[in-house]
Amino acid sequence: MRQFFPVEDLARDERFVQTNMAERIKDPRVPGGGSAKKKSSRSSTNKLTPDRHDASDRARGLMHGIMVGEIQALEGAGRTAHDFDAGDGSGDTIPFALKLDMARQAWDEARHVEISAKLSTWMGTELGEFQENTVLFEAACSNDPVLRLAGVNRALEGLAIDVFTQMKEFGDLAGDPFLEFCEDWMLADEVTHVKMGSDWLRKVTENDPDRRAKALEFQQVVDKLFSFGGARGDTAESSFQLARRFRELAGFTDDEVETIAGLDQQALVERKAAINAMQAAVADS
Ligand SMILES: [Fe+2]
Ligand SMILES: [Fe+2]
Repeated sequence: MRQFFPVEDLARDERFVQTNMAERIKDPRVPGGGSAKKKSSRSSTNKLTPDRHDASDRARGLMHGIMVGEIQALEGAGRTAHDFDAGDGSGDTIPFALKLDMARQAWDEARHVEISAKLSTWMGTELGEFQENTVLFEAACSNDPVLRLAGVNRALEGLAIDVFTQMKEFGDLAGDPFLEFCEDWMLADEVTHVKMGSDWLRKVTENDPDRRAKALEFQQVVDKLFSFGGARGDTAESSFQLARRFRELAGFTDDEVETIAGLDQQALVERKAAINAMQAAVADS
């Protein structure tokens, strides 16, 4: 079986429409996407709540994003279980127990794909109605398995913890027990996946501080890329918040959580500056 599968070769039928991160954040139906001016004129907060005028579209877009993310998480964990030989973790090898954890994760993600697809149908969404951003799988294409753990298990599945916490709360507020309970069950699995990433990253790089530093640096790049221009954070402008307690359970230290909060804030400041510059340029033209 072939190793190191590029993102272009992912198996998708004609229903799927793929996109990149830059295009996706322009989509106003996606939390954190679209023009900040347009949103702030209608609501004092970006948080997804049932009383928003755009609650249905946003919830459906987020759910669709979760579903395609689950597909890619399944593909990524499966690749990591297969792409590297069993060994002591040095070079191109990974411990056999890490392979088993990735196989277990693939099993969980397959279940999440089914759950998310059914929830999407339940919410009135068709597969492919929203675009698929393939950045998660791209983060799972690194030649270094430790970077995959940092980028996928810690950064992106850490983000899944934040998003699932919000969707669970949305299900509760909207009076939708199916959504609430499904998100709660998937959230429990994601905490396990992030913990696997935290534990294995520390274990495999125990005697290799340079490799660990490189992995944590990659994690920060992915964390910032997926902060949706600061949409995740602790302010009223935030679309969703950092699930601090669940991140603690998943092996994040307090300092690491604060670093992510700082990256979110930085991304928000940069996004506002970019919007201001763009509006000034339009006014001058
Ligand atoms: Fe998942
Ligand atoms: Fe996961």
